Amino acid sequence: MDDYDRPLFFHMMEYAAAAERDVVDMVSGNPDWEAPAAVRSGLAAYADADVERFQYPPSEGLRELREEIAARRNVDVERVIVTNGAGEANYLATACALEAADGDEVLLTDPVYPYYQGRAKMLEATPRFVEAEPDGTLDPAAVRATASDEAAAIVVNSPNNPTGAVYGRELKRELVDVAETHDALLVSDEVYDHFVFEDGAFATALEFDSKRVAVTNSFSKSMAITGFRVGYAVLPEWLLEAARTRHMLVNVACSRPAQRAVLAALRETPADYYEETRRLLADRIDAFCAALEAAGAEYTRPRGGFYVMARFDGYPGTLDNAERLVDEAGVAGMPGAAFGDSREAWLRFALVTPRAEEAADRLASFFA
Ligand SMILES: Cc1ncc(COP(=O)(O)O)c(C=O)c1O
Repeated sequence: MDDYDRPLFFHMMEYAAAAERDVVDMVSGNPDWEAPAAVRSGLAAYADADVERFQYPPSEGLRELREEIAARRNVDVERVIVTNGAGEANYLATACALEAADGDEVLLTDPVYPYYQGRAKMLEATPRFVEAEPDGTLDPAAVRATASDEAAAIVVNSPNNPTGAVYGRELKRELVDVAETHDALLVSDEVYDHFVFEDGAFATALEFDSKRVAVTNSFSKSMAITGFRVGYAVLPEWLLEAARTRHMLVNVACSRPAQRAVLAALRETPADYYEETRRLLADRIDAFCAALEAAGAEYTRPRGGFYVMARFDGYPGTLDNAERLVDEAGVAGMPGAAFGDSREAWLRFALVTPRAEEAADRLASFFA
């Protein structure tokens, strides 16, 4: 696994956009559904604010937004840093863990969200991979076998991109324990926590009172605002000062209007909004998986998130084959090889289009 300097997402998106035929784009994780109404009204109201409110916000984020997040996550407000999406939150946690640790290893899963790997490389860490189980979860024994005192961070994501796996409470407990055993930091990326399709399947790492846990999250997916760049990290106290400094030196602060709009939406959005999105996605998943089933494909039905992995007999998920699907089937997905060695035979499709079922029908015709 190399060549992650520029994630393959960009290449596939450009390839699909340049195609001469009609293509259903299932490459990126950009939601196609509406944001909460209060995002729009919050943003509109901001345009009329006094110019004073167009100036730098506090570097660690607007106090009221941090308080709102802290109350929801049941943590001390001081532990919350508002970041430029979960992307920056993951960067801060990983970089500061590496800086503080003796070892230089970052434990990742295979398949992996490619940015984790690129970031580990950028930070000159040594990535160590634990192969996920066929259902996308992790075998704690495999994690223990790979972890050592060289581990500075263990970076996991649940609900998972790309497998759709959801790690339960017991697995999270095991991961916290491994991190504690080796004085490493468990970085638990929970950006898809609003998209869980089985009651009780998901557990946040914040359930465990441990100095070795950092939780990262954002509003990119839950509010369908990937372009706003508002996320957060909940960090253990020993990491706070280093993380705040790094955040300030790299970013100064995060966009103030975007933080305000998110704050308004957190306060005003009814639970129905999230429920409706979940229902929309569950219906899409059903329709897409049914069409894959009819096409004789092997596939993973996500328990959370909005990605489906599929495998077609004799058609491994290489970059060439993903490009051929764009040209000949009119469907753009991600090559499984982009996520590591273990899912090389697979392709990943993001269900962020109302045309998901049509895409599956196109795949069925192509592979018939
Ligand atoms: C697992 C995972 N973490 C982080 C991100 C980035 O999220 P954000 O927009 O909050 O930076 C994504 C985006 O697709 C993701 O899939």
